[in-house]
Order: sequence, then structure tokens, then C-alpha cells
Amino acid sequence: MIVPCLGINDNGHLTIAGRDALALAEKYGTPAYFIDEETIRANCRAYKAALSKYAPEGSIPLYAGKALCCAAIYRIIAEEGLGADVVSAGEIATAVLAGFPMERAYFHGNAKTDSDIRYAISAGVGTFVVDNFDELSALDRIAGELGVRQRVLLRITPGIDPHTHRKIITGSVDSKFGVAIETGQAINFVREALEKKSIELCGLHCHIGSQIFEPDPFIEAASIMVEFAKSCKKEFGWEPEILNLGGGFGVRYIEDHPHINIDENIKKVCGTVASICEEAGLRVPKIFLEPGRSIVANAGVTLYTVCSVKEITGYKNYVAVDGGMTDNPRYALYSSPYTIIVANRASEPADFECTVAGRCCESGDLLAEGVKIQKCERGDILAVLCTGAYNYSMASNYNRVPRPPIVMLAQGSEYIAVERESYDDIVRLDRVR
Ligand code: LLP
Repeated sequence: MIVPCLGINDNGHLTIAGRDALALAEKYGTPAYFIDEETIRANCRAYKAALSKYAPEGSIPLYAGKALCCAAIYRIIAEEGLGADVVSAGEIATAVLAGFPMERAYFHGNAKTDSDIRYAISAGVGTFVVDNFDELSALDRIAGELGVRQRVLLRITPGIDPHTHRKIITGSVDSKFGVAIETGQAINFVREALEKKSIELCGLHCHIGSQIFEPDPFIEAASIMVEFAKSCKKEFGWEPEILNLGGGFGVRYIEDHPHINIDENIKKVCGTVASICEEAGLRVPKIFLEPGRSIVANAGVTLYTVCSVKEITGYKNYVAVDGGMTDNPRYALYSSPYTIIVANRASEPADFECTVAGRCCESGDLLAEGVKIQKCERGDILAVLCTGAYNYSMASNYNRVPRPPIVMLAQGSEYIAVERESYDDIVRLDRVR
């Protein structure tokens, strides 16, 4: 199942976490994101269990909040004992609001401002993942001024191509992220970090990209990073306490996508790290991973109302809905495929080929092209599956469309994690003169 919490009831309606999708649409309006809490918890536990089996004690998954960032998620993540990858002061503020234990937060980003750095230190962020030399100097200076010795991981570019969408590759040498091993700059990055008075260098980080299905690129990255750790030991006598290998495990959006076995992948990656370390006489570092998508994507379903069905004779069919690129820009940006079901006709044959379009004044505002769904009409409810990641977090107010709410479905209870934006919210910051 693409989304494990789905079913079909006796009325032929889609159910989400045991609730009739039509009743949910009626109660909360559309468009709306529905997130199954149990799926998130199960995904967190799969990562935690595998790391505790295959990696040294103290190894933890850090949830990458960029995939879905709101206070309720940080609460759940904290309850599940994960750490967090935060990437902006806004994400930090959200985690703080949720009462997240900030010592378990890792602050990412390739362009942190002085004010971001000050804010993060004062919010008690445990560790910075430093992206570049300029940031390292700025952090050393500001931490010195604030009288702290800041824990740091260095973001290193291993220089590999994980064969995913061009826009979500991050580990190649010419990437805007991190400092490359290949050019010889990474070793100087470590040298500088070790020389800084207000920096405590704890380890190394890399992230090769996102929506990656094969284990090989992760294994390759892990081996390159351990080889690099070996050079660090040789050069400076310094060994990383933490090796953070980033996020990126792929998620099934459509039936054709392969299954990812989280346990199996982690076993292979940890095995590679351990065997190279042993050969090289390095202590095996704690292994951190930063899953975002694979924690929240398959917990989410977005419900829309069909506004029109347009059959362009001899060409194609459009189904237009009351949302689109403003709540899910992923098809517009990356041509990402989605599985779509007409929620009130879920048991009917999916034989109507169409393009599902959003409401924006822009031809590229599409959710899917050439998909087969049940024949539908205005007023029907459309469910787009697997929208828990990078939908709400990338949503916009283009065309001044308000953002949908996030409704959390828990066992025996449901609650609104983020309210629907109102027109007042839309104009709240406007000044007429
Ligand atoms: N760690 C770092 C440093 C990252 O940059 C990312 C994602 C992650 C972890 C989490 O990766 P994940 O496990 O979610 O693949 N907007 C794009 C995805 C961009 C990913 C950015 N970085 C999308 O919608 O596909």
C-alpha cells in the first residue's frame, strides 16, 4: 500500500485511518491535508530500531523538518525519541514552540546569517552542521561573544551522483552545499575547525540527495566519508564521534516505485562503516541519519473537491480541483508522479484518463498528467496520496490562495495541527499605504 492507513468502506468510499474520506472533507472542508499519526510513529520506530540494532549506542535518526514542519510534528518526533534536522530560524522557532528538546536539534543551511546563528545559540540548538568556511568563522566569533563552545559537524561533499532528480541532488562536487573532499578543501575545513577556540568539532556530515531508491549510493557515500575520516585521523589525530549520513531514502508515490526496506538499507550502510573503520583502526562513530520524506510522506493524503471536468474532444480530459500547486508544487517543480483516487467512487474502475489541474492562473499548475482515475464530476472528492512530505512545507499563497489546514488523525482522536488560512490571514501583513 502506498499509504498504509487507507481502506474502502461498504459505501465504496475511501477511508483514511478508519474514517470516511467524505465525512472528513465535509467536516474540515477542502483542500485539506490529513496526516495519520500512527504511520509517522511507525516510520520513526523503523529507523530507531534499525540504528539501535546495527549502529553503536547513541546513534539516532534526526527527523528533517523541511519535509513537514509544524509544532505537532515536533511533539510527535520528540515523543518518539528522535532528534531534529532544522534548517532555518523559522523551523527552530517551531520546534521551540513544541517544547522540542533543543539539545537534540542539528542546525543545517548553507547561508546562515549572523542573526540566525545568534538566535539558534540562544534557543539552545545542540549542534550546528557547518556548511562552509565563512560560516565557521562567523560561528566561532559569535559563539565566543556569547561565551559558548559550540558543538559542530562539518558538511562534507563526497562527490557522488545518486541518480535522482537533478534539483534534489546535493552531494556532487559542484553542489552549493558543503565542502568537497576531491578538491582538497575538506581537509582544510577540518583543520580550521580544530583550530577554532569556540568550536567543538564532533563529527562529519554528508547528504547526497533525496528520493533515492537504491542502497548503493548511500553505501558509496558512507565509504567515502569513512576514508575521509581516516585521512583526518592521519593528519590531525582527530576522529569523528558522529558520522551523519543525511536523509534521502525514497518513498513510493506510485505502484511502479520500488519498496525500500529501511532495516536492510541501514544494515548495509552501518556494516560498511563498521568494516572500513575496523580495517583502518578507527573507532566506529555513532551513525546519524536524517530522514524527512520517509518519515511523513506516506502518512499524508490531501482531499480536494472537483470543480470541473473538461473533456477536450480528440485531445484530453482535465479534472480541475480547488487546490493545486499552491498546496503541492511537486509536480510543477519536479514532474513528481502521484496516485489519485476519487474518494466517493473508490471501488469503481479507474479508467478515466485525465490531467488533474489546480486552480491557479498558470498552465503548469498541475497535480498529475495522463493518470487513470474513476470517472468523476463536479462536487466529487479527489484524494491525492502520499502528500505528507514537501507539500505543506512548500505551499505558497500564489494567487493569494489560502493554505489548507493539517488535520492529524490519531487513534481514537483527531485534531487540527495547523488551521486553514483565512482571507484575514492573507491580508494581515498588507498596508494600503
Ligand atoms: N538532510 C539534509 C541535509 C537535506 O538537505 C535533506 C533534504 C534531508 C536531510 C531530508 O531528505 P529526505 O529524507 O526528505 O529525502 N523539495 C524536494 C526535496 C528536497 C530535499 C531537500 N533536502 C521534494 O519535494 O522532493
